[in-house]
Amino acid sequence: MMSKPGAVIWFTGVPASGKSTVAAAVEQRMRDRGLPVENLDADEVRQNLSPNLGFTAEARDENTKRLAWMAQMLSKYGVNVLIAAVAPMQYHRDRAREWCDSFAEVWTTCPLEECKERDPKGLYARAERGEINDIAGWHQPYEEPEAAEVVCKTHELDLDTCADLVVAKLDELGYIGDGFGQDDGYSDEEEAQVEERLKDLGYM
Ligand SMILES: Nc1ncnc2c1ncn2[C@@H]1O[C@H](COP(=O)(O)OP(=O)(O)OP(=O)(O)O)[C@@H](O)[C@H]1O
Ligand SMILES: [Mg+2]
Repeated sequence: MMSKPGAVIWFTGVPASGKSTVAAAVEQRMRDRGLPVENLDADEVRQNLSPNLGFTAEARDENTKRLAWMAQMLSKYGVNVLIAAVAPMQYHRDRAREWCDSFAEVWTTCPLEECKERDPKGLYARAERGEINDIAGWHQPYEEPEAAEVVCKTHELDLDTCADLVVAKLDELGYIGDGFGQDDGYSDEEEAQVEERLKDLGYM
């Protein structure tokens, strides 16, 4: 029987700020602890689940709603869920917070100039060439988080430090403590039998 829901961690920030990179490092740390974890990276989810969704305000609303919905479905069954998706509006993240029991917002941030320099996907270069004009934080709004649980200034802190900061916060919030999100291997019926037996023996 799953005793607790999984945590849902939303990594928000403009393109190339470091969401996917930090989320992958956090995922590895959670796996190392034996925690069940699913990494919903926006690129992969869009490709497989929403290939026709674009980047208009309406499409971003729909995309973040689908991600939040999936996260709360998975977390109910004890899976810890990491979401790496821009989610440019505060209400995108707040909706997920409302739907998920154990939620945290991680804001990866660095100056726009640094993002343009990193440009791992060549997105900013395409924008410079006039091929796209829908980058959040440049052509479209990006609302900076009002109260993110963790702020990773990825131009000041290296990747390991960013990932450690996130894991430390999850520990502090009690989201990934002992047994969190893990199946204890007993069904409800078995748990009741054990309790009954302990009562008979005078231990409870
Ligand atoms: N401290 C750091 N944390 C995370 N990434 C860093 C850090 N320092 C440098 N980087 C580099 O910044 C880039 C971040 O790219 P990443 O794909 O993670 O961004 P993203 O926020 O997921 O962007 P997108 O919205 O386009 O998916 C990578 O090339 C990564 O190596
Ligand atoms: Mg990414």
